Amino acid sequence: MQGANQQIRDLTAEILAGIVDGVVVTDEQAKIIIWNRAAEEMTGIAASDATGRDAAESFAENPAIVTMIEKTLATGMSYSDNDAQLQARQQPPLPVALVTAVLPDGEGNPLGAILTIRNQTGMRDLKERMRRADRLASIGLIAAGIAHEIKNPLVGIRGAAQLMKADLKPGGRQNQGEYLDVILKEADRLNRVLEGILDFTRVKAQESAPFNVHSVLDRALLLQEETARQNGVVLAREYDPSLPEVLGNQDQLMQVFLNLVKNAVEAMPSGGKLTVVTRMSDLFTSVQADGKKHRLMVAKVHDTGAGIKPEHLQDIFAPFFTTKDRGVGLGLALSYQIVQEHLGTIRVESEAGAGTTFSVYLPLAG
Ligand SMILES: Nc1ncnc2c1ncn2[C@@H]1O[C@H](COP(=O)(O)OP(=O)(O)O)[C@@H](O)[C@H]1O
Ligand SMILES: [Mg+2]
Repeated sequence: MQGANQQIRDLTAEILAGIVDGVVVTDEQAKIIIWNRAAEEMTGIAASDATGRDAAESFAENPAIVTMIEKTLATGMSYSDNDAQLQARQQPPLPVALVTAVLPDGEGNPLGAILTIRNQTGMRDLKERMRRADRLASIGLIAAGIAHEIKNPLVGIRGAAQLMKADLKPGGRQNQGEYLDVILKEADRLNRVLEGILDFTRVKAQESAPFNVHSVLDRALLLQEETARQNGVVLAREYDPSLPEVLGNQDQLMQVFLNLVKNAVEAMPSGGKLTVVTRMSDLFTSVQADGKKHRLMVAKVHDTGAGIKPEHLQDIFAPFFTTKDRGVGLGLALSYQIVQEHLGTIRVESEAGAGTTFSVYLPLAG
């Protein structure tokens, strides 16, 4: 009997080692019997350290998990938590989904409990991206609608002002001409704002072609060079010269890099260092228009500015979010949309007082 049990245990462990979910099995006293390889990776605790101990000991950093296991053993019921955090040794906490179930013997009596731990990192990223894309799409529609509504009467106002100006009798009241000029000038300015908003809502996949990402980055840096010098900001490049060409729309991506470089310079009004780094990434895109997966490169724009407050990190990609007196808050929203159209990603890391790094992942040609 003992031998058969051992054999089943060995076989089960082998199967469980190949599963991507963490699987933990306890006996009816909540003592750990099985701790598979994924559980080792997620918790940072080796199976040899975890098994044979009480769940309370092996999951010392995760009391909520211990409670779930104990409740399952006491009631025979399943419990789940799709929004849990797994505290791990020497690693950042991991977003996970947890499910416990009772392990019955042949007669349906509880032999122990099974816990599965599913890594939700990708899932939550995806949800967050979908939420953001949704929000952008609906705000974009509203903005485009309003812009159109204003544009038409604006054309009328401008036209009428122009006619009035043409009708002005020479030697008539001097001021009228000046007033009409103000109307024309302001109408033109308003028109530019509306065009900007319409541009933003028109971001769609443009023609893609391989291009040299370093020359585009150089152009973005060049455009900000003067402002940087005035602010005492040093510009540094750490390019990987062996990087292949990037696949995408050069003009749109130029706009992305320009926005990031501009933000970085603006984040350092009293000097600092702006570093642009490029290198190969280990990531791949999802399938592109050509039906292939493409390797990604990453361009990092790093500044030593004040950083982004943690409570703002959620909002910086939202249209019209700005913390600047003269900000518009469309730079990052637009950049996000463009990079997403390229099936890339933008990531941001920021530490208050230490600086900010924006990482743009883009597909490589070939
Ligand atoms: N490098 C950076 N350092 C600190 N804060 C930043 C940085 N980049 C962006 N931000 C924050 O994100 C906000 C939105 O940026 P953006 O969309 O470019 O709009 P704007 O520059 O007009 O404010 C900024 O107002 C700022 O609060
Ligand atoms: Mg900006």
